Amino acid sequence: MSVSFDFSGKTVFVSGGTSGINLGVAEGFAAAGARVFVISRSEDKVAAAVERLRVAGAEAADGRSADVRDHDAVKQTFEDCAGMFGKIDVLISGAAGNFPAMANDISSNGFRAVLEIDVLGTHHVMTSAYPHLKKPGASVINISAPQAVVPMIGQVHVCAAKAGVDMITKTLALEWGAEGIRINSVIPGPIEDTEGMRRLAPGEEAMKAVSETVPLRRNGKAQDIANMCMMLSSDAANYVSGVIVPVDGGWYLGGVGTALERTLAGLKSSS
Ligand code: COA
Ligand code: NAP
Repeated sequence: MSVSFDFSGKTVFVSGGTSGINLGVAEGFAAAGARVFVISRSEDKVAAAVERLRVAGAEAADGRSADVRDHDAVKQTFEDCAGMFGKIDVLISGAAGNFPAMANDISSNGFRAVLEIDVLGTHHVMTSAYPHLKKPGASVINISAPQAVVPMIGQVHVCAAKAGVDMITKTLALEWGAEGIRINSVIPGPIEDTEGMRRLAPGEEAMKAVSETVPLRRNGKAQDIANMCMMLSSDAANYVSGVIVPVDGGWYLGGVGTALERTLAGLKSSS
């Protein structure tokens, strides 16, 4: 059975939408006929992503380079998007930073970098988007991670950051609900061919070991995350807000911890 969605005439904004999972999500909406706008730091990645979105079938595609830690820059990108494509129907917020390191080996600046990209960056994206969101009707999705709910060695900064992202989701569901804005988080499992997994489980063998800790016995694809984002942004989910949805083959039930024990076993605290 194939799944198909129709987002023609809709405007979709994806922060961090120039590679990996978020680009896969942006391409899913593009293939469903949406106008898609992406941002990330690298101008080259933005240009390449916009080209891919056009090829995927977007009604229109554009983007800008901006660092989500820079509030003014983020605000400008939403003004540019709304000026070109109109009110935003769907906002996907997925920019994030990660590196594996034990807590004692993370400097103040290292911890701050991840917190600022994930948590402060999400706040910048949410508040900059707000004036341009369709009210009622907008669907906002924060891309979270299993670290938000499962503690993992070598991931103290990401665990703290992604838990913060999910609390932003829940709080804004309360604050924005009366205006007809729905907001949810999606927690991807281990997704093939992504920077995130290259950092946590480098190499084919490590990824195979990870897949064995997933109850469905396979790693995910960006399309799996795109499908959930489109489902949550469709009318089929118009009474769903404030939820945190794992799309991970059941990984969060226990496999996450086991996988990290195996793949990050080499990490040792230096002090
Ligand atoms: N172990 C320990 N500390 C690390 C580290 C590692 N593997 N990698 C980076 N850091 C530290 C740096 O040493 C620096 O701290 P210092 O100034 O005390 O030396 C701090 O983190 C910031 O690094 P910097 O490279 O200046 O930050 P940045 O803002 O340019 O990049 C990162 C942010 C570090 C998160 C970078 O990996 C990044 O841009 N990631 C985006 C892509 C990504 O992470 N994708 C995976 C999916 S989320
Ligand atoms: P990725 O390809 O590195 O994606 C990160 C994106 O964010 C890129 O487009 C990057 O582009 C952008 N970005 C990073 N820092 C930014 C900043 N400061 N300002 C603006 N944009 C920034 O990694 P990924 O693995 O696909 O991860 C995507 C999302 O899924 C993240 O939220 C991650 O936590 C989550 N996730 C991933 C997995 C997985 O299996 N990979 C599992 C669970 C959750 P630039 O470099 O151009 O800025």
